[in-house]
This record gives sequence, structure tokens and C-alpha cells, in this order.
Amino acid sequence: MTNSDRVNFGSRIGVILASAGSAVGLGNIWRFPYEAGQHGGAAFILIYLLCVLFMGMPVMISEFLIGRRSRANTAGAYRILAPGTPWRWVGFLGVLTGFLILSYYSVVAGWTLEFIVEAGTNSFAGKTAPDFSASFASFLQKPVLPVIWTACFLLLTHFVVVRGVKKGIERSSKLMMPLLFILVIVLAVCSVSLPGSEKGLLFLFRPDFSKVTSDVVLGAMGQAFYSLSLGMGCLCTYASYFSRDTNLAKTAGSVGVIDTCVAVLAGIIIFPAAFSVGISPDAGPELIFITLPNVFQQAFAGVPVLSYIFSLMFYILLALAALTSTISIHEVVTAYLHEEFHLSRTRAATLVTAGCLLLGAACSLSMGVWSDFTIAGMNLFNLFDFTTTKIMLPLGGMLICLFTGWYLDRRLVYAEVSNEGSLKVRFFRAYIFLVRYVAPIAIAGVFLKEWGLF
Ligand code: TRP
Repeated sequence: MTNSDRVNFGSRIGVILASAGSAVGLGNIWRFPYEAGQHGGAAFILIYLLCVLFMGMPVMISEFLIGRRSRANTAGAYRILAPGTPWRWVGFLGVLTGFLILSYYSVVAGWTLEFIVEAGTNSFAGKTAPDFSASFASFLQKPVLPVIWTACFLLLTHFVVVRGVKKGIERSSKLMMPLLFILVIVLAVCSVSLPGSEKGLLFLFRPDFSKVTSDVVLGAMGQAFYSLSLGMGCLCTYASYFSRDTNLAKTAGSVGVIDTCVAVLAGIIIFPAAFSVGISPDAGPELIFITLPNVFQQAFAGVPVLSYIFSLMFYILLALAALTSTISIHEVVTAYLHEEFHLSRTRAATLVTAGCLLLGAACSLSMGVWSDFTIAGMNLFNLFDFTTTKIMLPLGGMLICLFTGWYLDRRLVYAEVSNEGSLKVRFFRAYIFLVRYVAPIAIAGVFLKEWGLF
């Protein structure tokens, strides 16, 4: 396939919703609230916003310009823009990272389906806190059910990706994202109207800087990359389907704003409800699957039908958010196999789905029956999470900065960001400064700190 007969997204809103769909995911609704909860609420959020602005935005614009310039999958992109150089390894790293993330992400995404069924069949009713943790633990111990849900989620993703960029990805984003926005807003309004919710809002919005340690900064930066889908060529792949007149900087701005709003709104859903029933919000990863069903049960204790509706809507929201993200990760690997190995799109997608299913099943079992099998003290699921989010994504993000900041010709970068000079780009020097120095140095600092070298 030549680069000029590649498909494009059909509309500007499609571009924004698909990219925002990639960004808005479990990272916003599952990870952000517990990170904020454990790291002192508002102070974390402020630092997070700085990370989004000064590191997330420049890296996102870089991924966009690499993708749109090359009009290729992420590995092909480096081959085209930097032929015959080791930069191609950045592309391979991205594809591999995507494959690993998709495998374990689908496991958690699969749980959301189980919870939709549980909420839908009203099986949360009458349960107490210990019941919720016991039933989640017993769910994880089951050898088959969680794997089936992982498979279902991967298949949902598969069918969207197979339908292609316009009919699959763009159309599904245009359908799911508005629904997701409505659900987030309705749930946030409900949560804030609960008695005693002010304490949750105060926690979320009153900064306590005494809680700010280097760990918090680290957490905020990792979260920013993860939440914005940066560091593995996900948005680079989507940008290869942008048209010549898409305004890259504006699109990055919209995606950043949408992603941050949804994360903060997820906090507004969770904290007021949790505080209103006196449950601590710093529960960690299990917050959403153990603490929250209990919170929803108690928060509307007087009116069971409200608990029912609230829980069901919440898990549907979670599944939608996860699905638009898994689609974008799947597309990275599918586009790579499709274009680099000349496989049909369907065959490429099938290979990805099958491969992720194998690894995903292993990740799922590693939290139950295979939990004795550990590497470096981590089960497979945690190992995948750790190596991708703590090593591969920051490394990828840093290399992307170095590539656009130092390797690519400055005129090419300008031409791409300004749509061949037709847009005024007042921030260009600031952008170059950020990708050349600020972002790579900050990432390297965090890296060294993380590994105890600094
Ligand atoms: N951003 C998504 C979330 O918040 C997850 C995700 C999708 C992702 N694509 C990615 C994370 C690429 C890192 C890299 O859940």
C-alpha cells in the first residue's frame, strides 16, 4: 500500500473523539482516583496538571507530527522519517509495549463486564463491606470466568478494529464518547448531591502541600503519560489517519482538556460518595471493584433503585471508557502487522487478538490459581503493568522527545505543526524548548530516581 491511498478519519470531530477515546480509559476512572486518593488529593491534581501541560502536551504534539508526516504505523514511521538509523527501534518498542499493555488491560476491562452483569442482576443488594471483598477475591480465584470476560472484551475490540478506521474506530468513538460524557456528568451530579459529600469535594480540591514528596511527583508524571496514551505510538498511529488540515496543536489541546476533565469528574463521582458514607478513599487499585460497589450500596441505602441504577451506569461507563482505549492499542499492533508484513487487516487483527488472549489469560490466572508463579516478586499481571508503565512508556516518551527535538529537521517539524505554514504557531519556540530539554530531562530524572540512582 502506498502512503497516499491510506484511509483518513472523516471529520474533525471524529479525530478528536477517537483520540480522546484512546486517552480516556481505565487510567482516568480507575487509576487517577486511587492515585489522587493515595497521594493527598488536590496537591497531586495540581502537579498532575503541570505534568500534562509541560510534558504531556509536547509529547502528544510530537507523536501527532511523527504519525501524520509519515502516514504509517508507528514502526514504519521511524523507518520513513529516519531511514537506516536505529530510531526504528523506538517504533518496535512501541508495538511491543502496546501488545503487552493490551494483554493485561483487557483483563481489568473484562472485570468491568462481570460487574455490569452483577450490577444488572442486582447482586450487590444487601451485601456488606466484607462480602464485597470476599466475592471479588473468589471471582479472581476462579480459573475460567475471568478469562472468559477477558476474551469477550478482546473480541469486542477485535470487531471494531477489523471494521477499519472510518467505519470501526471513528464511528464507534462518535457513538460511545458522547454516551460516556453523559454518564460521567449524571453520575457526578448524583454523587455531589449526596448528604455529607462536601468532605469529598474538599479533599479533592483543597491542596495539602505537606503531602507532596518526590514520590507524588513521580506518580503524577507516570499518570499523565498513561492517561494521555503517550509513549508507545498510540496517538502517532491515530495521527497517521489525520488529514493534512487537522490542526495538531489544537487537537492535542482538546484531547488534554477532555482527558483531564473526565479524570477530575471521576474523582467527583467517587470521593463525595465515599466520604458521604465514611469510607476512606485511599484504597488503591481495588477501590473501584471492592470499595465502590459498597459505597454505592450505602450511599443510596434508603432508595435501592437508585443504588441499582447508579452502579449499573458506573460500570457501563467504565466498560465504554476501556473499550475506546483497547481499540486504540489494538490498532497500533494491527496497523504494524498489516502494513509491515502485508497481511490483510482482518488477519493482522486476528493475530493480535489471539496473541493478547494467550498472554491475557496468563495474566488473569496469575492473580488466581497461578499466583504462586512470580518473577522478581511480582505475578505476571503486576510484572506487565510494572515493566510497561514504569519502564517502557517513559523510555518511549523520552525517545520520542529526543527524536522530534534533536533528530528531525526543525523545518520539517515546523512545516508539520503549522500545516505547511498555513497556521500561525506562536508557541513553536516554547514547544521546541520543552521537547529538547524540559521533557527529556524531567523523564530521565524520574527514571533515575525510580531506580535509586539519584
Ligand atoms: N490512556 C488510556 C487510559 O487512560 C490507556 C491507554 C490507551 C494507553 N493507549 C495507551 C496508555 C497508550 C499508555 C499508552 O486508560
